[in-house]
This record gives sequence, structure tokens and C-alpha cells, in this order.
Amino acid sequence: MRILERAGLDVTVWSHELPPTREELVHLASGADGLLTLLTDRVDSALLEALPNLRAVSNMAVGYDNIDVHACTARGVVVCTTPDVLTETTADFTWALIFAVARRVCEAAADVRAGRWRTWEPLGYLGLDIAGKTLGIVGFGRIGQAVARRARGFSMRVLYTDRERRPAEVEEAVQATFVPLDDLLRESDVVTLHVPLTPATRGLIGAPQLALMKRTSILINTARGAVVDTQALVRALEERRLWGAGLDVTDPEPIPPEHPLLRCPNAVVTPHIASASEHTRSRMAELAAENLVAALRGERPPKSLNWDQLWTKG
Ligand code: GLV
Repeated sequence: MRILERAGLDVTVWSHELPPTREELVHLASGADGLLTLLTDRVDSALLEALPNLRAVSNMAVGYDNIDVHACTARGVVVCTTPDVLTETTADFTWALIFAVARRVCEAAADVRAGRWRTWEPLGYLGLDIAGKTLGIVGFGRIGQAVARRARGFSMRVLYTDRERRPAEVEEAVQATFVPLDDLLRESDVVTLHVPLTPATRGLIGAPQLALMKRTSILINTARGAVVDTQALVRALEERRLWGAGLDVTDPEPIPPEHPLLRCPNAVVTPHIASASEHTRSRMAELAAENLVAALRGERPPKSLNWDQLWTKG
């Protein structure tokens, strides 16, 4: 807010806990030159039509599947996001989920609070070891690579897959080996997803892919819920065809409390908080504001998806 106000912008804030409906958003933003959005706000052709003055959309997220970038570009609307500032925090949280699932942290802690911990037992809460195992990273961008860097501390073998192989220096820096998705699923003890949600990645991990994974393996998703077929995952967890899953994102989101996924003791589900450290959320907010101010001044924003395209289009 300080950055926006210092820039002399006249700011209207949606200050309710839940996101605005389409009608509420159109009403709130009618006549606006810029929108600072969250990943819960959908920006599509219909919204752009309803807000003809719009010149910039600044999303406070690295993911932008909530925004039709093509439609924005066609209308000359600059689109900005907040990459980089959340990379390390998201990678840290990925590891929090890996260990929470492998060592049954949530289940065990819930038992302590409920008074079910009666004594130390040799066979109580047995989990899986992570050190020395194989980590499979699906999507080897900034966050995937940051997850890989941490794996070296656990002496893990790191496999990755992506649309294409990354340059040798990227692979060497984290000692990661490129393999096709199916091989990665067959060989990994932990599979972690770091792809954006696009038509190509929607449902990327469905029943056939889950069937390739080891019974003792763990699936982690801190990317977008719809990358995984939730029903197929629930079946695999219920039938113990996987050791467990750690999901910071779900499809649908939020996941209703009565959803069968939440009855699986081997699933750890968190409310889309991988970037939620105090420092990182502040950096994301600042970057989103800086992006918006620059775009509205007609200056190159620090992180824009389509600025160059708009300029080459003239
Ligand atoms: C959060 O999911 C983000 O995309 O920043």
C-alpha cells in the first residue's frame, strides 16, 4: 500500500477475507487503470471487456494460470508476476512436506495433543528414511532447482524431468540427471512437482503415472492442484499403493473438509502456504506493487510476462 500510495495512485482495496465474485470485482475495479490480483482472481476476456480502461494486471504470485495472458496481450494489457522472491521459501516448504509425510509428523503430533501418546514404543510411528534415497523433480525451473540444491545435504540421487533437458552447467551444479517422466516415477522414492499449470500439465499425474510409482514412495505437490488427478491419488492412497502424499495445493481449492482425501491418514494437506514466510510474502507484495507502478507509468516493470511482446507489437 505504501508503494502504491507514494506513487500517487488512487487505490481501492477489496478487504474481505474471501475473494470478490466476478460482479464484485467488476464493480470494485470499474474505471481502474490497473489491478493488483491474487491467484484467486480470474482475469479472462470477459473481465477485460468489463474493464476497458485496464492497462496493467499485477499478480501477487509466481503462477499465473488465473490469468489469460494471451487475451491481455491482445488488448495491450501488461501482465506482471512475482518470481524469484519466493523460490527459496517454496523450496524450504517442499522439504517440510517431504519430512512431514516420511516421518508421519502430523499424525504423531495430533496423537500427542489428543492424549493418545502413552509410552515410547519400538514400533510406534515408523516412517521412511530420506537420506540416501532418490528424489525425482518434475519441472526443473527455479523452484525445482532450489529443491535439488537442498537434496545434496541429504546425500540423495536427484533425477529430474522437464519439457527439455537443462544446460549441462545447471545439471552439474546440483548433480541432477535428466530422465523421461515414466522412468522418474518408477525410480524415485520422493516425487515432487514444480511445473506451472498449463493445458499440457493439467492431470499430468493421473492413475497410469501413480501406478508406476513405488509402494514406498511419496508424492509432493507445491505447484498447482490440477496437475494431479485428485480422485486417482485418493484411490492410490486408500489402497496403500503409495506411502503418502504431501499436498500444499489441491483440486478443488480449498478442499472441502468432507473430501475423501482428508480421510487418508497418509496425506498431509496444507492450505497453499509454500511461500508464506513473513519475509517472502512482504517481498511478493512489494514486487507486485513495484510492477504495477512501473507498468502504469509506461516503464518496464521489474517482472513482466508480456512487456517485450507488447513493445515489439508497438
Ligand atoms: C503461489 O502459488 C504462487 O504462484 O506464487
